Amino acid sequence: MTGERPTAETVSSILGDRELVVASNRQPYSHEYEDEEIVVNRPAGGLTSALDPVVQSAGGTWVAWASGDADGEVTDDDGRVGVPPENPAYDLRRVSLSDEQVDGYYYGYSNQVLWPICHIDPSKMNARADFWQHYRDANRKFADAIADEANGESVVWLQDYHLALVPRMVRETRPDVFCMQFWHITWPSRDAFQTCPQYRQLLDGLLANDLIGFHTDQYCQNFLDCAAMLPDARVDRATRSVVYDGRRTFVRSFPLGIDATQRRQLAISSADNEFWHEFKDEHDLGDTLALGIERLDYTKGIPERLAALEHLWETRPEWQGELTYVQKASESRSQIPEYQALQDFVESEIQRLNERFGTDNWTPVVYLNEYLPKDGLATLYREADLGIVSPRRDGMNLVAKEFVASQVDDPGVLLLSELTGAAEELGDEAILVHPHDTPGFADAIESALSLPEPERSRRMNDLERLVHSNDVYAWMNAQFRTVKAIQRGRDVAAKSVKRQ
Ligand code: F6P
Repeated sequence: MTGERPTAETVSSILGDRELVVASNRQPYSHEYEDEEIVVNRPAGGLTSALDPVVQSAGGTWVAWASGDADGEVTDDDGRVGVPPENPAYDLRRVSLSDEQVDGYYYGYSNQVLWPICHIDPSKMNARADFWQHYRDANRKFADAIADEANGESVVWLQDYHLALVPRMVRETRPDVFCMQFWHITWPSRDAFQTCPQYRQLLDGLLANDLIGFHTDQYCQNFLDCAAMLPDARVDRATRSVVYDGRRTFVRSFPLGIDATQRRQLAISSADNEFWHEFKDEHDLGDTLALGIERLDYTKGIPERLAALEHLWETRPEWQGELTYVQKASESRSQIPEYQALQDFVESEIQRLNERFGTDNWTPVVYLNEYLPKDGLATLYREADLGIVSPRRDGMNLVAKEFVASQVDDPGVLLLSELTGAAEELGDEAILVHPHDTPGFADAIESALSLPEPERSRRMNDLERLVHSNDVYAWMNAQFRTVKAIQRGRDVAAKSVKRQ
């Protein structure tokens, strides 16, 4: 069974007359200069591309940061532009931020305070006072734009950790909107979250939502534990909700999925293509291929994975000349010193491993950091014998799901870190690893590669079923259904108060 893409009818049967306003840091379309021409780019990120068709069919407005250098050239005086450009279906309302604000709000507070704390790595936190100031200012700009676009009854759907203060700010001018937020990363334990100096203000902001969604039940429990730190909050574990400042906020898990059908079709159409032939000619591959695909982020555990591979080649030399690991990496947040240092370290480690073990006709690690076309990526997913997804911490991890959906014949094996949200869903049929247990990780690579075919197929069939039934459309539908249930509950309560 596959989640049905919500149609305009489904969304409007749930929203009624209420208008949808989506807000996220990243925008679904950006306008950029290329050779003095303005071109439209669509960020590769799965979330914006999955939400875009839904907003297209439901109509409404999407509020996002104007990150493109030509964005301002195409918007009206209020920062609005109709998208998709070729056939506009909804308004994109762009929020302009100065370079200083982007440094403080995005590179600073979002990615050097909230990101490390939520990924339970508080020693990487850089709690500069000006970061917080910029985060507040940028959230205010988003909130003003949302309040401008919303009417009293709108459903405001906020995405992610960049916008934690927005719900409270929106309520100042639009007290009656239905406000919901999905937190796309881990929500940590109370002890870890408390290391953030502004933990109270963040909770105060988030508890102005009517509904907050997380990937797993554990993150919901962690959030409820954190909410209990606010003296004026009453946490109701039975209904998984928090009563605070005269409002009840429901806390629910909605595991994010991918467009699995589209991913499978892409894998089918990428069989035996030119990319694959060129790739094989260009690199000295072994007969067995392992694959890792990620942004260059310290949470993804790339150095730990390379250490496990080194241990394998060192202690079991029969894998030398046989197993090639392909690392596809994309540069990310490079203005942050931690990310720059990681990029340099990964490159030097790969070079060291290739010098240590490589031969004239075998490359142990192939490093790809250039742009790859969609069908190239799909081919790598499809051809890999082993997909290695081993973050030190990850809220969900969609690469694991993309690998599964791409196994169209001769299925590979998924090796998955137990410290990911995806392990809750896929952990029974994937081979679980702990990213910091180097010898155990190396053993797991070997056992995964030694699984007999019937066992590989059985595991992959089960994984495919899960990935297809919990896809991105099931994720959206579950949230819209929850909105409807909350509204129904409130209508009933309001009627009974009237009758008394
Ligand atoms: O996982 C959280 C997330 O914000 C995703 O939504 C996004 O794809 C990824 O991190 C990269 O984020 P960005 O490049 O916008 O910092």
